[in-house]
Amino acid sequence: MFTDRVLSGMRPTGNLHLGHYHGVLKNWVELQQEFECLFFVADWHALTTHYDSPEIIEQNVWDMVVDWLAAGVDPAQATLFIQSRIPAHAELHLLLSMITPLGWLERVPTYKDQQENLTDKDLSTFGFLGYPLLQSADILIYRANRVPVGEDQMPHIEFTREISRRFNHIYGKEAGFKEKAEAAIKKLGSKKSKIYRELRNRYQEKGDSEALETARSLLDEQQNLNMGDRERLFGYLEGGGKMILSEPEGMLTKASKMPGLDSQKMSKSYNNTIGLREEPDSVKNKIRTMRTDPARIRRGDPGDPAKCPVWQFHLVYSNDKVKDWVQEGCKSAGIGCLECKQPVIEAVLAEQQPMHERARMYEEDPTLVRNIIADGCEKADKLAQETMRDVKEAMGLSYS
Ligand code: TRP
Ligand code: SF4
Repeated sequence: MFTDRVLSGMRPTGNLHLGHYHGVLKNWVELQQEFECLFFVADWHALTTHYDSPEIIEQNVWDMVVDWLAAGVDPAQATLFIQSRIPAHAELHLLLSMITPLGWLERVPTYKDQQENLTDKDLSTFGFLGYPLLQSADILIYRANRVPVGEDQMPHIEFTREISRRFNHIYGKEAGFKEKAEAAIKKLGSKKSKIYRELRNRYQEKGDSEALETARSLLDEQQNLNMGDRERLFGYLEGGGKMILSEPEGMLTKASKMPGLDSQKMSKSYNNTIGLREEPDSVKNKIRTMRTDPARIRRGDPGDPAKCPVWQFHLVYSNDKVKDWVQEGCKSAGIGCLECKQPVIEAVLAEQQPMHERARMYEEDPTLVRNIIADGCEKADKLAQETMRDVKEAMGLSYS
């Protein structure tokens, strides 16, 4: 019923690095060739945790868009926009909040986790509690059905499906359908109709697919139902009325294999990153000064790549021939560490070179970036308005 539409967002909380490139952006670049894609800057989401440092957001929004473009995200293929420029996200967030049980939000794992981990911030705010619901509004407003995200975000997609189901359940009935379906339920007899109703609620409100299966087999066993009622009851199980909002699927992005300079995960908080558009001299310097296997104190001391962060880079960037050369040369002290790092330096610079080239035009003329975003916002706004029309109508708000 809905065409395949991909949507994803990124919070503008810092400069993007090669971890983002390998973990997220390369994936976006592939997806844009296959699907209709919408990618947006989640600046409101950044405010839920960085409400006391708005300057971070301002600074990072445009840099981040340039990073996307540098990585090969193509405005001719994908729609790029900024969340806060589409106020309908906030309107849908508000309307969905009417039917969102508090318990569902409190149970989202990122809520407690982040509150416990980010102890330097007071996250007992209404905005932060609503984080996953705002994300649901982002997704549902475009009727997106595929959402590429990392593992940590999967509970938010699951939450979105539940909200969508609940919305369709409450507002999606077609005139006359409900009455007929209800009448058919009564024909099951009091005991079975009670079971049917319970199973149906469990599936529709909690997404319990076992309940759906059980209800279907219950219907299969009913011999005294006519065909019409049978079909109604099957349809009624899954909603059967209008599907106003989509039920998105998460597309799990494989965790980035990109290690940091110290072989922990590459992350701003570990201070071990290489920026996506970092200057070549700085990149060379960072790799040259990377720690290696501590056993290699002198040039003649043999080492073990398994104990060396540089080897992790070879795993990402080098072919088998180079990797064999490293293994052999390291263990026999046949090569020095600087020598070993050279192919890594070359590979990283080669990867970044087209990014620098693509970025140059936008760095020189920032209005190009503003225009790309203005176009994207216009497209996104149109799509958002279509959904809002249906949502408002369903919620009794399109009276004159
Ligand atoms: N919460 C996401 C993150 O931190 C960002 C995001 C906001 C998002 N809205 C979204 C991702 C909608 C996918 C779809 O990574
Ligand atoms: Fe690491 Fe290479 Fe030095 Fe071995 S030779 S310790 S793999 S940098």
